[in-house]
Amino acid sequence: MQQLLENGTPWQLVETGLDPITIQNNETLFSLSNGHIGTRGSLEEAKYTPSYFHNEGTYMNGFHEISPINYSEWAFGYAANHQTTSPLPNAKQMRFAVNGEWFDLEHGTTSDHRRVLDLQKGLLTRHFIWENSQQDKVEVKIERFVSYDIPELLAQHIQIIPLTDGVELTFETILDDLEKLGKKKTEDEIKDPRVKNLSERLFTSEELTTETFPMLHIETPASQMHAIVGTAAQLRNNDGESEQIGLKETWTCHAKTEEPVVLERFAAYSSFYLEGNQTPAQTKVLRQILETALKIGYKKIKENHVQTMSQFWEKSDVVIEGDDHLQKGLRFNLFHLHQAAGRNGKTNMSAKGLTGPGYEGHYFWDTEMYMLPFFIYTQPEIAKQLLLYRHTILPKAKERAKTLSVSKGVLFPWRTINGEEASAYYPAGTAQFHINADIAHAVHTYSKATGDKDFAYNEGLEILIETARFWVAFGHYDALNEKAFVINGVTGPDEYTTMVNNNFYTNLMAKHNLDYAVEMVMESLADDRTASNDVLEKIGFELSELEEWTKASEAMFLPYDETRGLTKQDDSFFHKKLWDFEGTPKENHPLLLHYHPLAIYRYQVNKQADTVLAEFLFSWEFDSEQKQRDYAYYEDITTHDSSLSRSIFGIMASEIGDSKRAYNYFMDTALMDITDLQANTKDGVHAANMGGTWLSMVQGFARMRLYNDQLHFEPYLPEQWQKVSFNIQFHSSLFQVTITQEGTAYKLLEGEPVDIEHNGTALRIE
Ligand code: BGC
Repeated sequence: MQQLLENGTPWQLVETGLDPITIQNNETLFSLSNGHIGTRGSLEEAKYTPSYFHNEGTYMNGFHEISPINYSEWAFGYAANHQTTSPLPNAKQMRFAVNGEWFDLEHGTTSDHRRVLDLQKGLLTRHFIWENSQQDKVEVKIERFVSYDIPELLAQHIQIIPLTDGVELTFETILDDLEKLGKKKTEDEIKDPRVKNLSERLFTSEELTTETFPMLHIETPASQMHAIVGTAAQLRNNDGESEQIGLKETWTCHAKTEEPVVLERFAAYSSFYLEGNQTPAQTKVLRQILETALKIGYKKIKENHVQTMSQFWEKSDVVIEGDDHLQKGLRFNLFHLHQAAGRNGKTNMSAKGLTGPGYEGHYFWDTEMYMLPFFIYTQPEIAKQLLLYRHTILPKAKERAKTLSVSKGVLFPWRTINGEEASAYYPAGTAQFHINADIAHAVHTYSKATGDKDFAYNEGLEILIETARFWVAFGHYDALNEKAFVINGVTGPDEYTTMVNNNFYTNLMAKHNLDYAVEMVMESLADDRTASNDVLEKIGFELSELEEWTKASEAMFLPYDETRGLTKQDDSFFHKKLWDFEGTPKENHPLLLHYHPLAIYRYQVNKQADTVLAEFLFSWEFDSEQKQRDYAYYEDITTHDSSLSRSIFGIMASEIGDSKRAYNYFMDTALMDITDLQANTKDGVHAANMGGTWLSMVQGFARMRLYNDQLHFEPYLPEQWQKVSFNIQFHSSLFQVTITQEGTAYKLLEGEPVDIEHNGTALRIE
């Protein structure tokens, strides 16, 4: 791990030598994706070298199989099906032979093995020298990337340079050898509810034998999703001889000493489709993509890809002077965030991106509350696509509300791919109703930060209204509680406390959700947009609803302990006994793997930020003493067993002026996956935490907040650094914020002047 941080520039992750243990994590860290397909950083010949192989996973965003969740005791409305992202045929596999002897890491002698993930260019390169048992020696350079310009495409460039007298080289590629795609789960993994399905094939496949390229049509039997996968390859500078038998291709050629032989290889994965009769048309499109790739050639496609990557960094990089390791960690996180986001309005961002099997590829609130802000303020077009996905699942969310006997509005699923609820354990799943308000919050933030009225008054408005409707139908006015509006029987973000009344976070978020709906309806009516009128009519909006929402918001109950001056996480939280932290051995963390849920729920113990998260999101609504008291209290009882916790505690440490804590939390956040802090990086990256890194910088150290339609900053810099700078897109303007120990500079890069508030004073960036 240390090696990854120390070697190379702050744009590179460098692995030198080979270690069967670290390769498992590095398969995750070196994953490449573009929001449509993702492939783990496994070795090309991994399958032939069992000790250097964990999981070759290649995934397509949204392509999943369903299977019934078997409950031994079923109850009405339980989530019906598992939804599991299906690993795809691993088309990147390839091996070669020198004078008839096949290469793998356990045969012959491999030296100078080195892999580099170039974050700036989005390339994974591999280099080594191999000598076979007959002392024939070759130098090998392999490069791969997943294209942003042609989302279907995974490109490989394999170069072999003979170092001994002329040799015969053989390359062998295989699109899918119908074996398992990963190793079986280990004992530990079987017990870990967060890991599912490493190796099972969830699709059936049919070879498209009339095609010239190796091509497959794959289909998931139950969810009936289809896709086409194909490969095309050519030797670049050597005539050689090639042979194709089914999905397997071989090339044999003679090469002189020092004369490189190059195999260019493209694998393409179509979009998924649901109508089986589309197969011929989809096959044609994919064949054309492969033909074009061969024609344009690797070099040109790579140039375009690198150019696209540089445009991304130009807008989204965060530069930090004073700590190269941190700079690398930060860029690594932004790189993966960018890779993970669905971009077609029909897919979202799973908790592990497209880097591993963890959480089955599900989308959670992680997207809206942790990852989306980065996109809203640096790549708003992607943010919009992610929110549009939520709009596509509104009909299912409506059904779900009905299933839960909520007469009006929608209930978004806690975890999902296809829009249906997939959480088999409702106390820490479906009961997290706050997801509705989280999505509403993201819609509001996106609308305010971008000024995108087309979205705000169409899809945005519909989401805000339907979620607001849910809260008034779900909560009620409690006669025994001074007629306060209460929301009972919910679970907040902290999954170590479930099924409570009046979770503070949920109630505060719901209150804002109601306000957002009122605000957006009023704004859209004042703007007299036809589109919004259509939406209001379509969903049967009535003016009296505005009053209903305002009344519920104003009466919203926010639990508070007057005696101690503390915000209560929920009605009963302070009545519980404190968890015995001292008596809990270190190896019993995370608690969820060592204690029955009911043994945890009886105590005051937090898995992750809950009340503190609420106070971050609306920090201007709380006075600083309040925030300090709550922070001190909740920090003491938080385990951070969820990777979503530390970034928020770091940000709030900045908010209350504790720069030391802010710095320490930030270091953990920024380096979480590279250092395997949560001990499960091998199952995929922690994408929400990666978003949390950006949040920590921009909303933590620069203390950026958006309220009253304006951005507010109160920046400071930890003493360890000399300088930090990042860009913010606000409406159609882009500006740069540079913080040094001396002060902050704002510079307009594009668009109209922007009015902000800096340390409480109005300022125009022009
Ligand atoms: C956290 C949730 C989160 C999920 C997916 C869980 O451990 O408690 O808040 O949504 O992981 O990242």
